Amino acid sequence: MERIKSILKNLSSKYLLLPLLLLTTPMAAQTESPSGVSPTTAFYVVVVLLIIVAILVMLLAVSLLSLLKAVVRTEMSTEKKASLEKEPSWLSKTWDKWNALKPMEEEQDIMLDHDYDGIKELDNHLPPWWKALFYLSVVYAVIYLMVFHVFKTSPLQEEEYEIEMALALAAKNDIEQTIVVDFDESNVPFNDDAEALADGKKFFEAQCGMCHKADGGGLAGPNLTDDYWRHGGSMTNIYNVIKNGVPSTAMIAWESRLNPIRLQNVASYVKSLRGTNPAGALPPDGELYVEEENNQE
Ligand code: HEC
Repeated sequence: MERIKSILKNLSSKYLLLPLLLLTTPMAAQTESPSGVSPTTAFYVVVVLLIIVAILVMLLAVSLLSLLKAVVRTEMSTEKKASLEKEPSWLSKTWDKWNALKPMEEEQDIMLDHDYDGIKELDNHLPPWWKALFYLSVVYAVIYLMVFHVFKTSPLQEEEYEIEMALALAAKNDIEQTIVVDFDESNVPFNDDAEALADGKKFFEAQCGMCHKADGGGLAGPNLTDDYWRHGGSMTNIYNVIKNGVPSTAMIAWESRLNPIRLQNVASYVKSLRGTNPAGALPPDGELYVEEENNQE
């Protein structure tokens, strides 16, 4: 009895502490999560937490089971133990059963009737991964049916499209209605605010970089870092080209995609590229633009 106690002590510290520790972690994390999350996010968080808890409970059960086994084994006679060790594990037995191919002698039992010029066919099991995929797809289909057609908790393709379009329209109206600026392409000022330039840079690298290169050195579109411009290098020239584009070239009008503030930020960023001289830049293109004092501001 003493021995069992000591084994129990040993094992419990090894197997039980870990799952218990892990169990407390998600709970602690949950109390820390910021309030004011949307109901959908909260729902997914709860589902994920439930899954984590379920996995931990399973781990706990498995560790308890192995603990029980260890205890039972200490009480077994040595012969019994030896015989147990010879037996294949539950896992390998199940695996063998799943894959069960009949031994040669028993192939007669699963031989199919047809005979193609002496070629015969055995009615063997499908591979376990195939069956698992099949059952999974059945389960998935039921969940899909419930979510999309019975409870309608998630939008179908067409509805998703409508939602996206409504959002885009709202965003477009936002650009058109709420942002009123006191400049246009005839008098837009250069904005040297670091935040504005950073915003312009971000947009430039994401949207303009594919043609002008992320550093402005030029690819399909001309180099924007030198003093030579096709359409002039003043702030108002640059703003104008970006806003209205250059007809019948790859340089489209960006007015419908950029609100005036961001347009100004991007133009200011392009203006700020002057003289950066990036490696591998395209050669000068267009006419030399000489900076005028009152053009920059
Ligand atoms: C699909 C390729 C493409 C994209 C994307 C593009 N451009 Fe252009 N851009 C061009 C081409 C081509 C020209 C030259 C047009 C011409 O022949 O006059 C040009 C010209 C320009 C000019 C005038 C250069 C000069 O020499 O006068 C500026 C400024 C400019 N682009 C800025 C931008 C900015 C800012 C963006 C992102 C909002 C952008 N471009 C996105 C292809 C592109």
